[in-house]
Amino acid sequence: FSAFLTDSFGRRHSYLRISLTEKCNLRCQYCMPEEGVKLTPRSQLLSTSEVLTLARLFVQEGVEKIRLTGGEPLIRPDVLDIISELRKLEGLKTIAVTTNGMNLARLLPKLKETGLDLINISLDSLVPAKFEFIVRRKGFHKVMEGIDKAIEMGYNPVKVNCVIMRGLNEDELLDFVALTEKKPLEVRFIEYMPFDGNKWNFKKMVSYQEMLDRIRQQWPNLEKLQTGQTDTAKTFQVPGFKGQVGFITSMSEHFCGSCNRLRITADGNLKVCLFGNSEVSLRDVLRSGAPDEELLQIIGAAVGRKKKQHAGMFSISQMKNRPMILIDCLRYAQ
Ligand code: GTP
Ligand code: 5AD
Ligand code: SF4
Repeated sequence: FSAFLTDSFGRRHSYLRISLTEKCNLRCQYCMPEEGVKLTPRSQLLSTSEVLTLARLFVQEGVEKIRLTGGEPLIRPDVLDIISELRKLEGLKTIAVTTNGMNLARLLPKLKETGLDLINISLDSLVPAKFEFIVRRKGFHKVMEGIDKAIEMGYNPVKVNCVIMRGLNEDELLDFVALTEKKPLEVRFIEYMPFDGNKWNFKKMVSYQEMLDRIRQQWPNLEKLQTGQTDTAKTFQVPGFKGQVGFITSMSEHFCGSCNRLRITADGNLKVCLFGNSEVSLRDVLRSGAPDEELLQIIGAAVGRKKKQHAGMFSISQMKNRPMILIDCLRYAQ
């Protein structure tokens, strides 16, 4: 495995998340401020060929999984071209997408045909009016249609990401678990995380332990499942249910020790940690015409500086980062 992608703690980064756009057709409260974010001028965003050049380089060095994110990746007009070119990269085992599901039902046949392997979909409420309040747009039925169609088309597992916020959707925990009785979904409850402009505070966060306790009151026999070493979620299942339930515990029990992820933002910065604010522009190096070797040196140096773990919930809530929309989430457009 490439020394450039191995950090000083021996973590091998075989999973690359590429943000394809800063735009989104939803405006989730936990992702961006109501007034929106200042978008990067188009000329400074990575072009199709720049995305592919970087992907090729990372795969050559050992990346086996690429997840396309955003903003909302499925609003980028060339998303199918990108997937089809990625498919040709020898060594790349998995191509995944994290989407808000708004355009999913319509695009699914093409996505499948082009070779998309895995789909994660965000859904924070099963109540249409509440969905609209959280994402500040309409679209609940479209997202549900996308989820059902992904299952129908054989995607497995289809993961549903649900950010739980106190006073907002915490009352739907059990309904989301109940959804896994008949549908073979993996519903993942995500602890609310602080990013610039999302008004995070400790009281709004519902911890893994609290969620688990509440679910166990209804389903005491909830069973813990085995998970892969680098998975973000701890997974469980109610015996007899078709689907599973996961918890992404970035705040209360971080999983930095087994992190295998790197990110490239839509404007071409390499971000070695979701909660880190040191970034290096790969776009500028690419545009200077530098050879691969120089790019690799720069990537290797950034990976080498990766910290052992994030700075802790309260420190990261105070540090300057980016709004989630400009890292690798999926919803917002002008
Ligand atoms: P899989 O590839 O299916 O494991 O998906 P994933 O969980 O890595 O990605 P997804 O885009 O579905 O994100 C789900 C949640 O996990 C989001 O809230 C992400 O911000 C969070 N997440 C993703 N990557 C990281 C990471 O590197 N560190 C932390 N702490 N959280 C992450
Ligand atoms: N806290 C936790 N998860 C978040 N996401 C976006 N913003 C936050 C936040 N503040 C999730 C979205 C999406 C995934 C990529 O990140 O729900 O599914
Ligand atoms: Fe919501 Fe994701 Fe769009 Fe952010 S990028 S507003 S979390 S759908």
